Amino acid sequence: MLAQPRGGSWPRRLRRRIALILLACFMNLQAQSVDSEPRIDALLARMTLEEKAGQMSQSTSMRSPLSEEIKEQIRRGRWGSFLNAGSAADRAEAQRIATRESRLGIPLLFGRDVIHGYRTIFPIPLGQAASWNPELIRQAARAAAREAAADGIHWTFAPMIDITRDPRWGRIAESLGEDPYLTATLGAAMVRGFQEEGLAACAKHYAGYGAAEGGRDYNTTWIPERLLREVYLPPFQAAREAGVLTFMSGFNALNGIPATGNEFLLRRVLRGEWGFDGFVVSDYESVTEMVRHGVARDAAEAALRALRAGVDMEMVSTSFYDHLPALVRAGKADPKLLDEAVRRILRIKLRLGLFEPEAPPATASIQPLEVARRLSAQSVVLLKNRDGVLPLPKGIGKIAVIGPLADSPVDQMGTWVMDGRAEEVITPLAALRNLLGPDRVLWAPGLKNSRDGSRAGFPAAASAARSAEAVVLFLGEEQILSGEARSRAFLGLPGAQDALVEEVAAAGRPVIAVILAGRPLTFSSVASRARAVLYAWHPGTMGGPALADLLFGNAVPSGKLAVSFPRTAGQVPVYYSHLHTGRPPAPDESGIPTGTPVEPKGFTSKYLDVDVTPEYPFGFGLSYTTFEYSNLRLSAAGVPRGAAITVSADIANTGRLEAEEVVQLYVRDPVASVARPVRELKGFERIRLKPGEKRTLRFSLSTGQLAFYDERMQRVTEPGLFQVWVAPDSVRGVAGSFTVR
Ligand code: NOJ
Repeated sequence: MLAQPRGGSWPRRLRRRIALILLACFMNLQAQSVDSEPRIDALLARMTLEEKAGQMSQSTSMRSPLSEEIKEQIRRGRWGSFLNAGSAADRAEAQRIATRESRLGIPLLFGRDVIHGYRTIFPIPLGQAASWNPELIRQAARAAAREAAADGIHWTFAPMIDITRDPRWGRIAESLGEDPYLTATLGAAMVRGFQEEGLAACAKHYAGYGAAEGGRDYNTTWIPERLLREVYLPPFQAAREAGVLTFMSGFNALNGIPATGNEFLLRRVLRGEWGFDGFVVSDYESVTEMVRHGVARDAAEAALRALRAGVDMEMVSTSFYDHLPALVRAGKADPKLLDEAVRRILRIKLRLGLFEPEAPPATASIQPLEVARRLSAQSVVLLKNRDGVLPLPKGIGKIAVIGPLADSPVDQMGTWVMDGRAEEVITPLAALRNLLGPDRVLWAPGLKNSRDGSRAGFPAAASAARSAEAVVLFLGEEQILSGEARSRAFLGLPGAQDALVEEVAAAGRPVIAVILAGRPLTFSSVASRARAVLYAWHPGTMGGPALADLLFGNAVPSGKLAVSFPRTAGQVPVYYSHLHTGRPPAPDESGIPTGTPVEPKGFTSKYLDVDVTPEYPFGFGLSYTTFEYSNLRLSAAGVPRGAAITVSADIANTGRLEAEEVVQLYVRDPVASVARPVRELKGFERIRLKPGEKRTLRFSLSTGQLAFYDERMQRVTEPGLFQVWVAPDSVRGVAGSFTVR
């Protein structure tokens, strides 16, 4: 990004030059995609059916060192792509064979799960989302892309932009949370970051995968089209608009039709409505899994179904290669569909410059560890800070560092880490020793790991607590409890962690709980015993220094939850943008008469045994300072359809520390032809304020942003009253209203 010079704008000549360079880059990309088509035509004309099916196949079988069998297959054009394969040297050798020794010289495409970092590991995506900082997230993606590309990787299977409202689902860790607007904004930032450094991104898992029944991974999803189009698809459309080069079809059956055989998703929406011209890869064996779904008799039928639906490349299973050539010869598969799929794959290979490998142009330098430290700090959410116990005074005597997650590099990195190295991770224990000196840090793990049920380590932990002025307790869940196929039915702290907290709290020292986890956990007994709670997710390589910065005030917490935290697993799904229902449990917060008096206790939509609200709402996060929101103004009382209105409010830092705040814009359409959510996020901005500083923030809200799908599934903005909030989270804020004419 080109920063403006301080105290003025760029001179006009320079601005013109920058504009010309940007235009030239854009034209070049355009020209490249137009120019590539004749070249693809020429290749297609020479390819055998087997070579075409080979391009449409991705293998996971490339081991180190390269076997003679694989070398021979590459020469034959058996594979178009490899996944998570070999070493950098193996990839270089395989590419040499593909480009020099195969008949057509078509380069291989090396894909890898570079999910939240390559060698430098950034916080898990759900943690990154809590930063609400698209620019920093884009920088992290750039850093990851640069490290991966240097090792011969061309393509990452990220970002995962599945909306999910279920913390039981282990893959919530890989998501950007529950909200379509936030996920779309941050997902697009990731796409840009990866692709700016030449790493193709992949929008996954298309679509609906995050709505798995019961939070059980790979499970069925039922999503009515209105919900699909308003909540689950917008992040994918945003990725498409950000220029994402590939999509991955999900494992799930969507409304009974597997996403990998789903013509509605892949042909009608993705290609038809959004005009996507890149390619779609299946998720692992999701093509042949259609047999187990019960929608194909055998692998041949599954291959045909996936091809027709619009899958271009098959990952791992081999039904395309095994059956498509024969199906074409038998007149059962349309050869045009194969040509179309191969065209898309070659187009991306050309767009990535794989046919003309040359040194990538030098771009501005990135300091991965610096980005990681900032992103880790900004992803941490302060959930409680009684009596301002945090930040701890730097002159404090001894602190006790307790809990298994204070010094567990692998757990700190979190799920989906293939290339991060445990020995490069700086744990909180190491960072605190470094900051305070080893003598001021009393360390007792208490438990061997988060699942440990033994109390053998408790006496040492209690004694450390008694000898210290304050206790920093690191709790949560290990890496292996979150991620793919890691669903949980209970969301509490595993093992004997609750008992450890009790034991340590009995020492009577102030307890600060730091929770490292891949999902929202339920931990109310810890929260009630601890004076402060920091939610740190799995914060990655630089999580230790970032937490030390926050604990001692070298950084101020500014993260906000990207997902609602339930009070208990029994409340799931709990999310902020729910519908109001005809029997809401609390008076209508809008203050607008709904016509029906609300019955506070009786027959309303609630639980008998737990408050219906979340433990911590979406958008929530405290700071070491306080912010005051006031004076919401609208640029007009009404706005004609098609125009925009400006919503402004004053935000003041009323505390004693300079800090950042994520200011959020929400709207509600209280009376419409279709019931609308109680609030919907429509904008946000991260601002920095000095103590005593007040700033007016302006959001432009177009009437298009108020649109929804009506009864006939037409996208409409209906005239009438709209409410708007400028807010620190999804339940508070300063409110106003305006009308759309
Ligand atoms: C299966 C996962 O669902 C997907 O997210 C991942 O990219 C592929 N495996 C490749 O490892």
